Amino acid sequence: MEQLEQVYEGKAKKVFRTDDPALYIVEYKDDATAFNGLKKGTIAGKGVINNQMTNRLMAKMEKAGIPTHFVRELSPRQTLVKKVSIVPLEVIIRNISAGSFAKRYGVEEGIVFDQPTIEFSYKNDALGDPLINSYHALALKLATAEELDTIRRYAFAVNDTLKAFWAECGVTLVDFKLEFGRLEDGTIVLADEISPDTCRLWDSKTQKKLDKDRFRRDLGGVEDAYQEIMERLLCHDAD
Ligand code: TMP
Repeated sequence: MEQLEQVYEGKAKKVFRTDDPALYIVEYKDDATAFNGLKKGTIAGKGVINNQMTNRLMAKMEKAGIPTHFVRELSPRQTLVKKVSIVPLEVIIRNISAGSFAKRYGVEEGIVFDQPTIEFSYKNDALGDPLINSYHALALKLATAEELDTIRRYAFAVNDTLKAFWAECGVTLVDFKLEFGRLEDGTIVLADEISPDTCRLWDSKTQKKLDKDRFRRDLGGVEDAYQEIMERLLCHDAD
């Protein structure tokens, strides 16, 4: 597999073409941003952790019947993935109130919901990723009704598998953001990453935050939290 030119650089990852037109290489950076890029920093070792964690979790999703873009890990920071065109939606599932949900609706963090919620944001940095509903997504032609049904079904299935897995590691899955892509033939697959950058993960006993909120909110111990959550994953990852 030959790495060709860079096609895209995002806030946390770079994407390269390869000599196979159906495959891309993603490379995870240590760069961290928050609040739509207003806050910038570096989290040493984050790229390696996010790459390795994403790949292990993507493999679990495949086992659970959710198709993903994952092909194989190439190196500590690089992974071979299927080329997709990203559906411009951020798909957010919540099990417990936190973050923008708590702020928007004026409730405290930590309320356990009777059932998970789903919401969509329009993935558009210039607009600050505004919250939208499925009718807006259809009006904007971001996805078809059938694609939205598939995305919703996969997102809840990811939640079931991920929540159960993290519970075994003594970690509570509070909420997370997913992105989906279309393969050349239109098939919807899970893409992007599943990492402490894109999930809220709390220690089940102490509620200690083991995710990017430590960076967003200047809580300190950011690198240690990323290391700790990776160790939690590995000790339960014998299968
Ligand atoms: P929120 O409470 O700020 O809306 O975040 C919900 C979840 O989505 C949380 O686990 C963090 C994740 N997230 C991202 O992955 N990228 C983003 O740009 C934002 C705002 C949140």
